[in-house]
Amino acid sequence: MQKKAELYRGKAKTVYATESSDFLILEFRNDTSALDGQRIEQFDRKGMVNNKFNHFIMNKLEEAGIPTQMERLLSDNEVLVKKLDMVPVECVIRNRAAGSLVKRLGIEEGTLLNPPIFDLFLKDDARHDPMVNESYCETFGWVSKENLAEMKRLSYKANDVLSELFDKAGLILVDFKLEFGLFHGKVVLGDEFSPDGSRLWDKNTLDKMDKDRFRQSLGGLIEAYEEVARRIGVSLD
Ligand code: TMP
Repeated sequence: MQKKAELYRGKAKTVYATESSDFLILEFRNDTSALDGQRIEQFDRKGMVNNKFNHFIMNKLEEAGIPTQMERLLSDNEVLVKKLDMVPVECVIRNRAAGSLVKRLGIEEGTLLNPPIFDLFLKDDARHDPMVNESYCETFGWVSKENLAEMKRLSYKANDVLSELFDKAGLILVDFKLEFGLFHGKVVLGDEFSPDGSRLWDKNTLDKMDKDRFRQSLGGLIEAYEEVARRIGVSLD
């Protein structure tokens, strides 16, 4: 498949059309952003690491019966994916308290959340991705009740698969964000899964191995991403 027109430039990826209306090419760039895109820096190898990381995870999820947009790796920083009609709502699963949950409720970071929490955020950088709920989705027509129920089911299923995968690699899956879309009417997982949109802590040291290293200026961002990739078996060569 050939790259055609640039359709959309996100904070860390650029989306290109292809000669087929059913497929897109995602290009993972070296950019890392925080504060809804107000702070952006480049890190060598980041595009490659996240592209291969995402490809690996999406394949694991697909094998577990979760439909994903993944088709195939095209290069170090490009993948071919199905073109989805994206739902403008982010699904977040939280196994432990961190980030905005800690800020909002004052719960101690790391507190186990049982059962894991399912949160929804509207994709709207200008309004800092406000938290919404299932009722908002229905009223504003962002996604049907049935499709949202499927997104929730698939998010919890992904949590089961990925919590086990990271646990075996000595890592705690603290929380993560997923984005879904519709492909010919069916709910399919899109966007990416990488340490940019998840929190991963070392099981023994509780070291942060994800984008919080950038958000909190801890340093060693790419080294941490590569360590996580190595532990779960992603080939970065
Ligand atoms: P939060 O603690 O900021 O609500 O984020 C929860 C998890 O979801 C965390 O792993 C980061 C991820 N996330 C994104 O990647 N993008 C977003 O826009 C939001 C709201 C969360």
